[in-house]
Amino acid sequence: MPSPAPPIALRGPLLTYTGDPFRDGLERTMVHLPDAIVVVRNGLVERAGPAAEILPTLPADLEVRDYGRDALISAGFIDSHVHFPQTPMIGSHGEQLLDWLDRYTFPTELKFADRAFTREVARTFLGENLRNGITTSCVYCTVHSHSADILFEEAEQLGLRLAAGKVLMDCRAPDGLKDTAETGYDESQALIAKWHGRGRLLYAITPRFAGTSSPEQLAAAGALWRAHPDCLMQTHIAENQAEVAWIKELFPDRRSYLDVYDHHGLCGRGAVFGHGVWLEDGELQRLHEAGAAIAHCPTSNFFLGSGAFDLRRALDPRRPVRVGLGTDIGAGTSFSILATLNEAYKAAQLSRHALSSGHAYYLATRGSAAAMHLEDKIGSIAPGMEADLVVLDMRSTPLIDFRMKQAESFTEQLFIQMILGDDRAVQATYVAGRLAYARS
Ligand code: GUN
Ligand code: ZN
Repeated sequence: MPSPAPPIALRGPLLTYTGDPFRDGLERTMVHLPDAIVVVRNGLVERAGPAAEILPTLPADLEVRDYGRDALISAGFIDSHVHFPQTPMIGSHGEQLLDWLDRYTFPTELKFADRAFTREVARTFLGENLRNGITTSCVYCTVHSHSADILFEEAEQLGLRLAAGKVLMDCRAPDGLKDTAETGYDESQALIAKWHGRGRLLYAITPRFAGTSSPEQLAAAGALWRAHPDCLMQTHIAENQAEVAWIKELFPDRRSYLDVYDHHGLCGRGAVFGHGVWLEDGELQRLHEAGAAIAHCPTSNFFLGSGAFDLRRALDPRRPVRVGLGTDIGAGTSFSILATLNEAYKAAQLSRHALSSGHAYYLATRGSAAAMHLEDKIGSIAPGMEADLVVLDMRSTPLIDFRMKQAESFTEQLFIQMILGDDRAVQATYVAGRLAYARS
């Protein structure tokens, strides 16, 4: 862990959320301050509020870093579903999910038997996260236990809050990428003992999906989660129609795809289910009751031709499901959360829902934190919250600068960023109050 960063105050326009705008409305939950100060000490936010109020009270020797009027200070972005080992294979052409896994993903993941390669990819992955303002992610590693060790080591060096897990996969995968129900349990348990709760790191029990785990392995994962209920649990669900049909064939006794997991003790508070494009109403109801979450991965859903996730249906106020945002690299096509929100907007449009910019940035920050049950620690800017921050440059390209001159409201400015912006809009990223990335 890095030593604590010296105290500092950041100045600039600020955006944050005090609650869930999908439930309680933007007026009651979105906070926009045109000129704010965020005081950061010992890795936490100490104070945040209007500059006019806070500036006169600051100690004379406290450094105030002023990002100017064209910046936006937000909680760091949170990626609730991503595969770090797929960084080397983003943009692999031509297949839908099940063929894509066989043709590109598994051959790539086999390369992680090599530790030096694993470390190189982990560093590249975390570097891309910081360049894109992502300060927390919920990460799938490979089946190799050392892939989780190496990612945790690298995240610890950076002081990141990060959740990750070694993939559990004991069937229907190539030799060299399979564990067993027993070795997968034992190795995951050893990783939990070593990493879960160490500094800011968390373990996510990670059965890849029902397609690559036997009933014995799913049961073992459920038993492991029961033994360590404060771990997260992540897997994939109902991403693609051929996958849904295949899982039905593999588990004919189960009522639904979700029931395959539920039956084995894998549906509960702290579960993060990737995709969920093709979930049925009863499954959404059960996710709601269980406090489980869906990671919405729009660039991936479009790239693999999986379908358009219906966000509004998932959030139906009669049984709202927690929803976070995921890049799902490498089926996802961008590390940029702004680019991911662009695709989330288009996905919503396909079900006649014009996702507002205010709601979209919630998904990328506090919403994803809530999906991981971490909204008391990260995802918003308030006293006591961990000081993971992103500073956006609202005029990062000539076109954005030109378009911004026409903007008539703050929410229009925000929308412009998520439709036209990308990594170039990320001016600085702070991890636990320390500058971890600055655009040169
Ligand atoms: N389903 C099972 N494994 C994967 C994966 O690696 N990526 C995606 N997008 N879906 C999956
Ligand atoms: Zn995935």
